[in-house]
Amino acid sequence: MKYLVAYVTKTGTTRDFASRIAKVLEEKGNDVAVKDFGEVSDLSAYDRLVIGGPINGMKPHPDLQAFAETKAPASGKPFDLFAVSYLFENGRAMWKKAIRKGVEGLAAKSGAASWRIFGGKIDAAFPGFVRFMFGTPKDLPLDIRNWDAIEDFARSLP
Ligand SMILES: Cc1cc2nc3c(=O)[nH]c(=O)nc-3n(C[C@H](O)[C@H](O)[C@H](O)COP(=O)(O)O)c2cc1C
Repeated sequence: MKYLVAYVTKTGTTRDFASRIAKVLEEKGNDVAVKDFGEVSDLSAYDRLVIGGPINGMKPHPDLQAFAETKAPASGKPFDLFAVSYLFENGRAMWKKAIRKGVEGLAAKSGAASWRIFGGKIDAAFPGFVRFMFGTPKDLPLDIRNWDAIEDFARSLP
């Protein structure tokens, strides 16, 4: 199969996930292109798409929303969607709910075949008042990426 793994990123995490997903898909014998959304024009050459981006402001990044709602369905290709979040697994229940609603809602609205939310990373520890607002524990590592989860997702793709 010919895959496109396309993404938007602010600090590089989603790009690194896209590369790792591509590596696993290639190991399975697929032909894979990895592109920033800005580099994507024609989707006709691909059999399936994987699209991803970060959670910003508790919602999927606007470029992920736009791609999922317009280009991906217009292509007629099946696509899987992933989002990268620091707070989903570790923040207050209200943030988890909001993030899940945003990603699940986007996947449902756009017709994605599957969706996932993966832990990401931040560059510096939150100050106390921010930790309080988000509900994150003091000892939460800055980097909560789970590469096994990324690889499992990639292996689960057809
Ligand atoms: C400007 C900005 C806003 C963010 N907002 C959220 C948020 O609302 N919820 C969340 O769970 N994580 C948030 N994060 C954390 C990111 O999801 C995490 O850092 C992720 O690894 C970033 O992915 P990227 O490097 O592909 O942009 C934010 C990060 C940045 C830089």
